[in-house]
Amino acid sequence: MKTYKDIYAQVEQEIAHIAYTQQPEELYKPIEYIMSLGGKRLRPVLTLMACNMFGGESQKAIKAALAIEMFHNFTLVHDDIMDNADIRRGHPTVHIKWNQTIAILSGDLMMIKATDLLCETETNDLRTLISVFNKTAAEVCEGQQWDMNFETQNNVTEQDYLKMITLKTAVLLGCALKVGSLIGGANTNDANHLYEFGKNIGIAFQLQDDILDSFGEGDKVGKKIGGDIAANKKTILLIEALNSATGDDKDELYYWLGAKSEEKIEAVLNLYAKYKVRDKAEQLKEQYLQLAFEHLKQVSIPTENTLLLKQTAIDLMERMS
Ligand code: IPE
Ligand code: IPE
Ligand code: MG
Ligand code: MG
Ligand code: MG
Repeated sequence: MKTYKDIYAQVEQEIAHIAYTQQPEELYKPIEYIMSLGGKRLRPVLTLMACNMFGGESQKAIKAALAIEMFHNFTLVHDDIMDNADIRRGHPTVHIKWNQTIAILSGDLMMIKATDLLCETETNDLRTLISVFNKTAAEVCEGQQWDMNFETQNNVTEQDYLKMITLKTAVLLGCALKVGSLIGGANTNDANHLYEFGKNIGIAFQLQDDILDSFGEGDKVGKKIGGDIAANKKTILLIEALNSATGDDKDELYYWLGAKSEEKIEAVLNLYAKYKVRDKAEQLKEQYLQLAFEHLKQVSIPTENTLLLKQTAIDLMERMS
């Protein structure tokens, strides 16, 4: 059986073959830069795994896998402008290395290149693939706007949060799996169970992302630790803290939400520790992992053929980057 590493290596090789030689170079170089900075390549790996699960050769799904990775990288370029983030994958973000207008426009072009790549898939049902992809892409935009709206809203509920992360992060994992499975020959029912598996893994994945932003090691995460706190992001940690804190602690949290000082990150982290909000996030992560497994069980192929996806999901829950 192929491992994550094997499929990852295949994705890396294909990404290295994409050419960025056109002009003007201010438009193309940033695309090459962000695409070659690495990352886990999770989404394209999932697409290829899903295709393989139904007996399809990886090669059949590679263009779709690259399309989804290109789209993901586009969202990162724009996300880093929106989140005012200077570091990604351990390197300067595109808008810092170049400038904001370059980051906007090269991001736009990445979105276009993503649909181009998807259209290169040899399939007799391209229409379905495009429709799944475009629906997902629109949902990611919705999620990103909720995320931005919530920065200035202090009454965000856990339910609001779950809806926001489902849109901004989870649906793309669902889409990666659904598209791969359809290319591999899955029926609609199986493709939909894989979508739900991916979506629930995606929710758990974003919970872990929130945990890493506050509790991770900067070198490994490749982003600035505490960025979410600085931006007043309504992460699961902050929502749990706002729900649990009382009296002076609650006042203090509200004070920091209105402040921009150097001490803010450390002070909020202290409150997170006091109210054990990380444990709460870990519990929620586990719940969504189990929900994902319920859907994986319902895919009508031999259990042994689902084990690689199951292990990948388990490993993701402990990810450090
Ligand atoms: C980062 O995604 C954005 C989120 C949805 C949390 P990844 O954590 O998959 O980033 P890379 O591609 O591995 O760098
Ligand atoms: C990003 O969420 C989701 C998308 C890029 C669509 P975050 O803003 O939490 O991702 P990171 O932490 O910057 O990677
Ligand atoms: Mg963001
Ligand atoms: Mg961000
Ligand atoms: Mg994050």
